[in-house]
Amino acid sequence: MYNIALIPGDGIGPEIIREGKKAVEAVSKIFAIDINWIEFPFGAEHYLRTGESLPGSALKEIEDMDAIYFGAIGDPRIKPGVLEKEILLKIRFYFDQYINLRPIRLYKGVPCPLKDKNPEDINFYVVRENTEDFYIGIGGRFKARANQDHLEVLRKLYIAKIQVDFNLEQEEEMAYQIGLISRPGSQRVIKYAFELAKKKNLKKVTSVDKANVLTHIYGLWRDIFEEVSSQYPDIETEFNFVDAITMFFIQRPEWYRVVVTPNMFGDIITDLAAMIQGGLGIAAGGNINPEGVSMFEPVHGSAPDIAGKNISNPTATILSGAMMLDHLGEIKAARAIEDAVEKVLSEGKVRSHDLGGNSSTMEVGDEVVRKLERSKY
Ligand code: NAI
Ligand code: MG
Repeated sequence: MYNIALIPGDGIGPEIIREGKKAVEAVSKIFAIDINWIEFPFGAEHYLRTGESLPGSALKEIEDMDAIYFGAIGDPRIKPGVLEKEILLKIRFYFDQYINLRPIRLYKGVPCPLKDKNPEDINFYVVRENTEDFYIGIGGRFKARANQDHLEVLRKLYIAKIQVDFNLEQEEEMAYQIGLISRPGSQRVIKYAFELAKKKNLKKVTSVDKANVLTHIYGLWRDIFEEVSSQYPDIETEFNFVDAITMFFIQRPEWYRVVVTPNMFGDIITDLAAMIQGGLGIAAGGNINPEGVSMFEPVHGSAPDIAGKNISNPTATILSGAMMLDHLGEIKAARAIEDAVEKVLSEGKVRSHDLGGNSSTMEVGDEVVRKLERSKY
């Protein structure tokens, strides 16, 4: 039996999670999987009523569970970033979910913005490091005159490295932010990428960096990629600079199998990749700690502009549910959901608004369940 923490959250979160849960339950019945859902109320409504975002006691409780199934967080009544930080980022951090896994797959029947690219051309994984790089939160913002120490550092930087005229008397506002890559932090995510390639029988892993300019941190990343890759002689490897890969994702997405990337570049290229797979309504993701509790959620947010109208696309959430099952080792069940989703998308009879149809959130979920129930396993 699996104990799954269910956090629907805000905006369209509850309506998409309802459909995702429905699909996971339907497939569980077919494959005799026993799931015990433990639902948590955290989100804007709960916060406004009680002042509580996500208490430590809930995190403790979730520690003993098998996974987290998450809708979305964010509400216009609350300052942007507050709940995202206090709930979403807190979970990712607490459970050390150091991998952000993003399957990029164009399903049959989904409109693709790339000319002449078909489902067989767009089918790969991006493995994004999820804890380090420029997201560690070390930095500062100050005025040049305010602090003599800062001033001295800046003077050295400007004179030694950038060679621009900097009038030290001038009061100029300044900010800096530090990126950090660690050996264990890179090792574990790169190893995960190779293990994923092995598990899925994919023969190539591409590393993304900017080691030609940011030589320190991405130089270390490269060294570690080479070290880890030497343990997987059957898997081909390559390096792509981040600017080049944005170009290649558009030009020849069929080239890629598994792409592993530091945090910030991953943030950017996964949004690009979401578009070539048909948009936010489709894009699923997992925040994974292979040794701990992982969380599965759609890539999109709470979409307050369409919340409550029953027009949101639950597909990304349903596919995230499939990823969760795959992660738990229920590979056949995961595949069955994906197949059902693919049938619904390729038939196009039931199609959500974002994909140009007029079916409701619930109709899409129901149709996926119908396809599951009609398939033979
Ligand atoms: P968003 O992803 O919620 O929405 C962007 C656009 O895509 C909107 O026009 C929305 O209607 C549309 N959209 C998103 N999901 C859709 C779906 N399933 N079906 C149909 N259309 C969909 O991003 P936005 O508007 O920037 O942020 C809204 C709130 O969500 C903010 O509070 C933000 O902080 C939060 N957010 C939360 C995330 C999370 O919980 N993981 C991730 C991203 C944003
Ligand atoms: Mg992003």
